[in-house]
Amino acid sequence: MKILAIHGSPRTIRSMTRKLAGFVLAGAAEGGAETEMIDLCDYRVTPCTACEGCSFNGICVFDDDVLAIVERMKEADGIVFASPVYIDNVSGQMKVFFDRLADAIHYQMLSGKYGCSVATTHESGGNEVVSYMNHVQNYLGVISVGGLRVATGGNPETVDAHEPAARALGRKLADAISVGYSDPGQEAILADNRAYFRTLVEENKDLRTMEYDRWVRMGWIT
Ligand SMILES: Cc1cc2nc3c(=O)[nH]c(=O)nc-3n(C[C@H](O)[C@H](O)[C@H](O)COP(=O)(O)O)c2cc1C
Repeated sequence: MKILAIHGSPRTIRSMTRKLAGFVLAGAAEGGAETEMIDLCDYRVTPCTACEGCSFNGICVFDDDVLAIVERMKEADGIVFASPVYIDNVSGQMKVFFDRLADAIHYQMLSGKYGCSVATTHESGGNEVVSYMNHVQNYLGVISVGGLRVATGGNPETVDAHEPAARALGRKLADAISVGYSDPGQEAILADNRAYFRTLVEENKDLRTMEYDRWVRMGWIT
């Protein structure tokens, strides 16, 4: 069982969000997972230019690191999104990365995985950012087992106080992968998303044959 955290603070090892995500991964490891973390700022992630190239053949015009990151997400069973709150939203690094996931969302490439999200903030926006990242997970076809936000008030030790909750979240994610997890509300959202994207998959049937065939195999196109 593999769990991959995608971390969007540019402060790398000084990041409080990274520390919080590390606690989640530690809990996941206790639940039997092999864990890894991607620091987005160490990778080349070019902003989407809406050229729609990926819509035709699935290949982005930018030969940067996003394809490799998406492959690692595909190999993982669980995905943790971790971002600091920047102006009541995810960090720019995280948002630029999310924008590059449009093709993975359209074709529901990460369907069947579980995830969770964590955020740190000085004070505001933590709950909204966690909800947003879990919403992105649902867009990707991932079911979230929950989230955690820590408002530090500028005191880094606040994150340490949330270590037990973060470890419990990671453990819950590992358990969801091992024994299953049911959330009828999210399952309905995922079904609605597939119904919405089905038209696109059918329209691009001859361009994206492998993806179309996968949708048929999954029973999403009958
Ligand atoms: C550009 C920028 C924008 C920020 N916006 C907010 C904000 O809207 N609300 C807030 O309470 N804290 C805000 N903060 C503070 C960070 O969310 C907070 O320090 C966070 O814990 C940093 O996480 P990190 O150590 O992982 O980078 C902002 C910080 C930066 C650098």
